Amino acid sequence: MGIKADRRLRVFSGIQFSGTLHIGNYLGAIRQWVAVQVECENYFCIVDMHAITIPQDPVLLRRKTRELAALYLACGLDPLQSTIFVQSHVRAHAECCWILNCVTPVGWLERMTQYKAKSQAQESVLAGLLDYPVLQAADILLYDSDQVPVGEDQKQHVELARDIAQRFNRIYGETFVVPEPVLPKSGARIRALNDPEHKMAKSQAHIAGHAVCLVDEPDAIRRTVRRAVTDTGREIAFGDAPEKAGVNNLLEIYELFTGQERAAIEAHFAGQGYAALKRDVAEAIIEGLRPIRERYARLIEDHAELDRLLALGAARARAVAEPKVEEVKHKVGFLSGDEG
Ligand code: AMP
Ligand code: TRP
Repeated sequence: MGIKADRRLRVFSGIQFSGTLHIGNYLGAIRQWVAVQVECENYFCIVDMHAITIPQDPVLLRRKTRELAALYLACGLDPLQSTIFVQSHVRAHAECCWILNCVTPVGWLERMTQYKAKSQAQESVLAGLLDYPVLQAADILLYDSDQVPVGEDQKQHVELARDIAQRFNRIYGETFVVPEPVLPKSGARIRALNDPEHKMAKSQAHIAGHAVCLVDEPDAIRRTVRRAVTDTGREIAFGDAPEKAGVNNLLEIYELFTGQERAAIEAHFAGQGYAALKRDVAEAIIEGLRPIRERYARLIEDHAELDRLLALGAARARAVAEPKVEEVKHKVGFLSGDEG
């Protein structure tokens, strides 16, 4: 794209706050974001405007918004390196969404698999639910984002954002960077502890034994790991045999939290039983999550500090999004409301 200036790579992602974040989200996604935040220019948005496309309790919505913000900060996203902000704090998202609505055929939206799945579960489908991916396109395009790290299920929405950007650029001239979806590298695919055939999932995280959540207490973590499904064998080694998926998953979690080499880990567990494996994995998780849990506990108590950090994020997001939406409004032919 010709309009990309010589600048740091821009990364944008948004988080839907259904369910509780677990160690799979941390090891598979958030840790990578933390790792790249120095090199890239990052925008992490808490998408409260998307959240209300499904009816929400207002008191709970406010609480969940702060909880997610606290969790991101607790995981190490640094508000000085990354812009962490709440979508509704930046008016440009709604403004840009409206304009993009007026270049997006309804047929494109009706084809979205997430819309089809979510609308089937509703008695009456809200216009906002159909429009959800256009708001998502506005989120991404307002920041001239180059990359959008998302899970597989969001790839279609990012591709739609590309289609909308290209269509707008064709009609009104080069305006938007066409973004790329970036899917998590394979490997960090943490499996459910109670069912190693399937991945650990946010929607199942409330089921006892399924997941370790980021803010679980040490005793709860020990209980969950102790009941993890393994196999009837004895061997503790890395490997991809289907019947060893449970043991391999525990070893990978141990590896990711301790940073030790595989050979050293296998030597450590040589001659030990599954009870010892589970004990040590639980302690490795507890140690790895300790700073997150401690920071989270502090942050979530201090609403004033959290709100201050979100206000800082919103100001930085506005500094990028507002001039962009002004450019977009000018391109479509709106008069500037400014004097002179
Ligand atoms: P989700 O919880 O499906 O909304 O995913 C949020 C982010 O966490 C995405 O980037 C996923 O790829 C990642 N993620 C979710 N579950 C896992 C898992 N079990 N193992 C590794 N990464 C995961
Ligand atoms: N739809 C995304 C999800 O369900 C959340 C989201 C909203 C998002 N806006 C975004 C993701 C922009 C990436 C970029 O998780």
